[in-house]
Amino acid sequence: MARVDPHSYFDDSQPRVCHWRLELSADFNRQTLSGTVALCFDKGCRRGVLDLDTKSLTVTRVFSETGKALPFELGAEQAVLGRRLRVRLSAGVREVHITYETSPTGAGLQWLTPEQTEGKKHPFLFTQCQPIHARSVLPCQDSATARVTYDAQVLAPAPLTAVMGAGPLGTGDGDAGRRVFRFRMPQPIPSYLFALAIGELEGRDLSPRSRVWAEPATIAAAAEEFSGTEAMIQSAESLFGPYDWERFDMLVLPPSFPYGGMENPRMTFLTPTLLAGDRSQVAVVAHELAHSWTGNLVTNATAEHFWLNEGFTVWAERRILRALRGDEAAALAWGIGQKDLEEALERFEGKPALTCLRTHLEGVDPDEAFSVVPYEKGARFVVALERAVGEERFDRFVKDYMKTFRFQSITTERFCAFVEASFPGLLTNINADAWLNEPGMPASAPRFVSRNLEMLSSLAQGWKDGIRPDPGLIGRWTPDEIIIYLQRLPREMSHEECAWLDGALSLTGRGNHEILTQWLCIAASSGYEPAFDRVRRLLTRVGRMKYVRPLYQALGRTEAGRRIAHEIFAQAGPAYHSLTRRAAQSLLDQYAVKA
Ligand code: BES
Ligand code: ZN
Repeated sequence: MARVDPHSYFDDSQPRVCHWRLELSADFNRQTLSGTVALCFDKGCRRGVLDLDTKSLTVTRVFSETGKALPFELGAEQAVLGRRLRVRLSAGVREVHITYETSPTGAGLQWLTPEQTEGKKHPFLFTQCQPIHARSVLPCQDSATARVTYDAQVLAPAPLTAVMGAGPLGTGDGDAGRRVFRFRMPQPIPSYLFALAIGELEGRDLSPRSRVWAEPATIAAAAEEFSGTEAMIQSAESLFGPYDWERFDMLVLPPSFPYGGMENPRMTFLTPTLLAGDRSQVAVVAHELAHSWTGNLVTNATAEHFWLNEGFTVWAERRILRALRGDEAAALAWGIGQKDLEEALERFEGKPALTCLRTHLEGVDPDEAFSVVPYEKGARFVVALERAVGEERFDRFVKDYMKTFRFQSITTERFCAFVEASFPGLLTNINADAWLNEPGMPASAPRFVSRNLEMLSSLAQGWKDGIRPDPGLIGRWTPDEIIIYLQRLPREMSHEECAWLDGALSLTGRGNHEILTQWLCIAASSGYEPAFDRVRRLLTRVGRMKYVRPLYQALGRTEAGRRIAHEIFAQAGPAYHSLTRRAAQSLLDQYAVKA
């Protein structure tokens, strides 16, 4: 018996599921998915027991492909893991069929009322399975060490459309005013990349292999914002090798989507906050696209190796950015990341183990361990490797790495063995052990220099001495330049200073949520009440955790802010995604309000 993932009951000595056949029906009144999943085994031994992950699922029947009932037991609920579903297999069983139903509060699903959508007419459902929420959508071996292909059939009420991170096989009429959508996912994926969304959706082609989906109210803006996607795919292919997933489609979700993007294969999920109107946030698309290689093709074995996904992808995202927009744009992106990294390292001072790249997460909820450290420290480690061997050799290494491990899930140790075989002695030379197994940043970490970055940083540092940028200069700053500047300003200012800043950069009216949030954090920390209404509007509309967290945190710094934070949360909390709600709640718990 060997469990190989601290976050899953998956046991690699048991029969291995290699394919799912799903038949699901979405009930928006009861907010449940119900139906049957057939788990199909590969050719190996199919006796003994099969342990599956489940969370918030009701299992009604378990049977074989011949209809023979199979004994099963649901274990006790574990806080992080959920409940183990143990099925006893009779000899020769080829498929385990499970009839089940999800719960309205299952962590991997968010059911939205019509009011929570842009169109306000129809409800919406979307999944977010990474890191370990697939188990609340279907019973499965919910570990990235296991991969499956799947077929799915989804019943949804007309006129709603279902999309999946898979290839569409067609649509037909179902009973009771419902439509049936069929999909096939031919490429083997880890369970966390399973994705389904249902809503009033419209698609627009961006190129022969790329289409964006969104609610009718946002489709035009989405097609405009992401019109450069094909150029990105081509740039990525020339850097990392052929695109192995046939299509790169995207879905713009309603604003409660808790992340900026999620790299669901063949259907990247995106927050509508990317629709800034000026393509200033397409780096998120580059990031999710880059995951098609780093993450989806070569996958972290478990959450303890998360940096292999995210660190490599941030590095890849910035290589794409550099190829398309030049050195200066890439240097600014590294500069923005540098500040985020420093703040995260500070925040984790009490939990330094979580700032190692290779983590140990037995008993730790991976959602709680999440931070930008694996992203930005990980990306800098990749750059350390790249700089040590030179770009040309490193580019060849990356293509080789993709080819060697495609459609496999690997550990940090496996990665290191591959590096050692490719470049003997390199890991020792750059002190990889410090990067991987020690907290914080090694002193030798790569730096990214750019005159522009220096200029913006020193300008921001001069703020406290009364130095202000020239209004003519400010007017020509790009969105990333503004972010660099805002990131480096003091968090607390006088009201006059806030008013000056807002006036000079027209911050409160911005459509770019990165800029807006940077500004609103300063305003909230400073107790600058003229901006509170904008904070309230953002926090009642947007559920992206990257914005929600720092805003509640900033509100916590003043008495007036704390009062408003509780008020906003009372109003907005019920509509948040469960992850966002939990994150906001834990911040609010840290500050009480005097009656
Ligand atoms: N895979 C992540 C999102 C994620 C991570 C979901 C962990 C659940 C658990 C995605 O690729 C991501 O990193 N998104 C970023 C985008 C950014 C780094 C460009 C985000 O959401 O902000
Ligand atoms: Zn990512």
